[in-house]
Amino acid sequence: MTHEPAVQRREPVALAEALASFDALWSPRVVTHVNDYDVRVAKVEGEHVWHVHDDTDEFFLVLAGELDIALRGPSGERTVTLPKGSVFTVPRGTEHKPSSRGGAAILVFEPTGTLTVGDRHEEVPDHVDVTTGHALRL
Ligand code: NI
Repeated sequence: MTHEPAVQRREPVALAEALASFDALWSPRVVTHVNDYDVRVAKVEGEHVWHVHDDTDEFFLVLAGELDIALRGPSGERTVTLPKGSVFTVPRGTEHKPSSRGGAAILVFEPTGTLTVGDRHEEVPDHVDVTTGHALRL
């Protein structure tokens, strides 16, 4: 897994401009860093893949559209729905699968190097990019 160098941008990043710079779904771009964390934006539609991050929580903010996150816990499976403007944190060690029926733009905050498909995952479908986040090219 190649790890693109973390280059801290010296200018503000307009998220609308960042989102307009790519079309790929489930393929996050790193817009800035906070200490050892990435702030990433992604366009999503359809289903991601069940996966787990063993060592980190994962923060989601929905910028546009609506995101569903299916969660598997001790008491079974449930799905949380995040309309635009909502935040949710998936706790570390929790199996989860994001999806969006109508499409969404999301912001994710997680440690640099975190794989989009986690440390353990089901078979990754072709439409899902296995990445630690791509550099933003504006
Ligand atoms: Ni995840």
